[in-house]
Amino acid sequence: MQKVPFVTGYLTEHFGDDDYATLAGYRRRGGYEAARKALTEMSAEQIVELVKNAGLQGRGGAGFVTGLKWSFMPKGNDKPKYLVCNADESEPGSFKDRLLLERGPHQIIEGILIAAKATGAEKTFVYIRGEYAHPADVLERAIEECRAAGILGAKCLGSDLAHDVIVTRGAGAYICGEETGLLESLEGKKGQPRKKPPFPAQFGAFGMPTTVNNVETFSHAPHIVKNGAAWFRGFGTEKSPGATVFGVSGLVQRPGLYELPLGTRLDEIVFQHAGGPLPGRKVKGVIPGGMSMPILPVSQLDVPMASEFLRERKTLLGTGGVMVLDDTVCMVRVGCVITYFFRDESCGQCTQCREGTGWLNKIMQRIERGAGSLADLDILLDVAGKMEGQTICAFADAAAWPVQGLLRHFREDFEAHITHGKCPFPQSFEL
Ligand SMILES: Cc1cc2nc3c(=O)[nH]c(=O)nc-3n(C[C@H](O)[C@H](O)[C@H](O)COP(=O)(O)O)c2cc1C
Ligand code: SF4
Repeated sequence: MQKVPFVTGYLTEHFGDDDYATLAGYRRRGGYEAARKALTEMSAEQIVELVKNAGLQGRGGAGFVTGLKWSFMPKGNDKPKYLVCNADESEPGSFKDRLLLERGPHQIIEGILIAAKATGAEKTFVYIRGEYAHPADVLERAIEECRAAGILGAKCLGSDLAHDVIVTRGAGAYICGEETGLLESLEGKKGQPRKKPPFPAQFGAFGMPTTVNNVETFSHAPHIVKNGAAWFRGFGTEKSPGATVFGVSGLVQRPGLYELPLGTRLDEIVFQHAGGPLPGRKVKGVIPGGMSMPILPVSQLDVPMASEFLRERKTLLGTGGVMVLDDTVCMVRVGCVITYFFRDESCGQCTQCREGTGWLNKIMQRIERGAGSLADLDILLDVAGKMEGQTICAFADAAAWPVQGLLRHFREDFEAHITHGKCPFPQSFEL
């Protein structure tokens, strides 16, 4: 098995054991006991209350309160209800869901069963990015084991709940991670986000009431049912309870996955767990939550990794994908890479997004070539400002924020290109 450095907590405790991804291995460690309790001893309302009290927030990027989301599903059985497990993991810098799928597939299925009881859903669609062929195979094997053992099917774990899980593979588009783009793609259409309202709880997959949750969000549920809300709140901060799996990448000694409580300081993650910068280098800036989250300079890494603290520094937790950049890196080139990605991935429905992402990339490249002017910096901020909060989905905001962050903290890199008429960072990565 491939070795990935990681610090373990309750989610990843057994991820080093080769048999944990099998049904027998999972059950040997108490697996499916929480689902049995939820399915046979608890009402849907009790599960929703428990998860609400635990304060679990979705780990797919937006941080919505999970118990509250589950409570939005309509009651009654006049229409079939669905769950969607979002395994698109399309945010650059995020790779935690891959590990959870490869090493803990039964933990996800157990979380899905608990959510199914809470919402009354009869089926779950797992939407997984096409590039994750191996994780998809691992999950499909685990689902087959569950069907054969009666954990999934007409009477899940011997209870009244009927539930099945179906894996659908995507084709690798960032926008299919956005929940309504995902739903369109799941239905076999172009992955273009839907206007909201109606929200998925009213009109979701195939027009039916649907709840979409991230892979990691489901993975927390068995631990909450097993150990209780107070236990869960023993990790993390008051407003952001629990742990999460931080994915650290970039120019550090030990890139990898680190399960740590929310609220762990960013400098602890970068310098202690990930071993700090490469020999002879200094950290210049860190993107804290996947590529769409605004960068922080090295002087601001003393921040607890929880949304309420990151927001004070004009950034967010996102998916916890920590990307470390050192003093060789040209921040204008970083801007070129980021804006190229968003230009390429925009679905094109909204003018502000389709045109804005193109212009951000065009101007960024002009500055990188040494052909920019100081007025270009104002234009970048003007375009980014006009993309925020104007569009069908949050993609346009996600494209604007990193540009604003780079200019907020690394304006001198941009000005140096303009003054020197070329890139002043000869050691930086090539475009
Ligand atoms: C452009 C864009 C891309 C997204 N990509 C993902 C993704 O890859 N995986 C994911 O779980 N959520 C992604 N989301 C968030 C989802 O829309 C949705 O909020 C999430 O799946 C809900 O799950 P949660 O409540 O458990 O976090 C994305 C959102 C946007 C705007
Ligand atoms: S914001 Fe961008 S990605 Fe989202 S719907 Fe509009 S054009 Fe498509």
